[in-house]
Amino acid sequence: MAQRQLDQVFGGGGDFLRPVTTADLSQLTMIDAIVKETLRLFPTAPVGTRLAAEDIPLAGGRYIAPRGCCVFLAFYLLHRNPELFPDPDKFDPGRFLPGGSATSRRSCSYLPFSTGPRRCVGGPFATMEMKILLATLLRWFRILPGSSREELESISFSVTSHPLTGYRVSFIPREIQSFK
Ligand code: HEM
Repeated sequence: MAQRQLDQVFGGGGDFLRPVTTADLSQLTMIDAIVKETLRLFPTAPVGTRLAAEDIPLAGGRYIAPRGCCVFLAFYLLHRNPELFPDPDKFDPGRFLPGGSATSRRSCSYLPFSTGPRRCVGGPFATMEMKILLATLLRWFRILPGSSREELESISFSVTSHPLTGYRVSFIPREIQSFK
């Protein structure tokens, strides 16, 4: 579906492999949805930390994070909470397509770049970079997974997260002459 959208956006003028523009990006809703859904299931920064400046009631007051303690924010678990993302383990970019279930999500339920005054300053840049890269590679290649989902779920968590086995993918050149 992402490649069909790329073919529509880049296929018309005979310059299928031209650089991506910001106007193109606004039309590439599927690429946007894939990047968002990937960061939901596999947030590059799986946890964040904050120092509690005051006593903070948690879970409706059942617990208190006392002033001065270090609070871990588990973005990875937040993103897999079934109350926030139904069928949370399913890779379903459709959630982030216009009208999808995640487009009307609760605030602070999706935080790949954290939130607040110390949130990632590079978030919009990183997102644009990922979308341009994917929109470029998917015009040239069909990308097939070489790692199983189980392998991808075997993750080493630290400041950033990585699958223990690495990522394996195959790139199959597309028949792009047909677009010229
Ligand atoms: C997929 C790519 C990226 C992800 C998922 C990501 C995520 C994050 C997260 C979760 C934080 C912690 C914020 C907090 O504690 O509230 C952070 C901090 C930060 N990020 Fe990123 N980041 C990415 C790319 C980038 C890029 C490309 C840049 C620079 C161009 C950047 C610059 C920063 C800086 C400077 C901070 C520290 C902000 C502060 O402490 O005030 N990040 N990032």
